[in-house]
Amino acid sequence: MKTIVITGASDGIGAQAARQLARQGHRLLLVGRTEAKLAAVAAEVGVEECFVADFERLGEVRRLARDLRAATDRIDVLVNNAGGSFTGPVITEDGFERTFQVNYVAGFLLTLDLMEILTASQGAVVNTSSRAATKGTVDLGDLDGRQRFKTYRAYQDVKLASTLHIRELHARYHDQGLSAMAFNPGFIGGTSVGAEPFPILTRFNRAPLTWIFPSLSWGGARLAYFAEGTPGQAWQSGCYYRDDHRLRHTAKQAYDPQLSRQLWDTTIELLAHQGIVFAG
Ligand SMILES: NC(=O)c1ccc[n+]([C@@H]2O[C@H](COP(=O)([O-])OP(=O)(O)OC[C@H]3O[C@@H](n4cnc5c(N)ncnc54)[C@H](OP(=O)(O)O)[C@@H]3O)[C@@H](O)[C@H]2O)c1
Repeated sequence: MKTIVITGASDGIGAQAARQLARQGHRLLLVGRTEAKLAAVAAEVGVEECFVADFERLGEVRRLARDLRAATDRIDVLVNNAGGSFTGPVITEDGFERTFQVNYVAGFLLTLDLMEILTASQGAVVNTSSRAATKGTVDLGDLDGRQRFKTYRAYQDVKLASTLHIRELHARYHDQGLSAMAFNPGFIGGTSVGAEPFPILTRFNRAPLTWIFPSLSWGGARLAYFAEGTPGQAWQSGCYYRDDHRLRHTAKQAYDPQLSRQLWDTTIELLAHQGIVFAG
């Protein structure tokens, strides 16, 4: 039995994975933005440990980390799954463009704030990335893409950043026992992803053509597979996987160790400008 934290557990792939992982008897700590939706999922799967946080506010992410640390001294897997594609540019109160903040900065911060527990647990970080990352670019001079914002491009870029995050987590913490991976769940029918910028996608996605896309249950199973799987056996740390569990190439930039280091350092600097600093 593993202790698994899942963000974005109130809908879509995260909620579906929670249903499947709960059936396997894992201890789940579910994180969602919309309290009522999270409560409904939690009641359905019989989970009591639920945490509400809006990742558009980094103060809520820090509070979430504190609440999680108070709730558990073991985390085998942190799944950074919350995210999606949003219109913009919208600059949050923390000074980041929101697509960048919700999909990347929040998970970056949460992971670092839980690092002591994660390494003590010899744990793993699983990031839900996307095939969109293969077309992404990380521009250190315009990291959150606000200067040239296009909704879908921001999503491509941030999913690449999320993959680079995994590579740098591996480089910095694997020798302390942490493993990290990113995966593409595939284009999944029946989720709410992209509902805000592309309302038509939601209608198209939900019915009557859902049979064209892999089902939600299939998408949830991908996440559940990587969360449950033993690092080093089911998957290799530092790598990006395709929805069929295969190692997969993504954008060329994702394999640049200097860039992943620079992305990490720049993110730390940007957080420091917001008064967010880390011990150690
Ligand atoms: N569906 C696909 O085809 C697909 C493909 C590739 C990658 N992905 C990725 O898979 C992950 C899950 O997406 P999904 O398809 O399951 O979409 P979804 O049904 O829209 O679920 C997204 C989850 O993220 C949460 N979330 C959104 N904004 C948030 C915020 N500001 N703060 C905290 N939580 C927030 C949502 O909370 P609420 O319930 O409050 O909305 C929900 O729980 C995302 O990272 C997405 O980019 C999806």
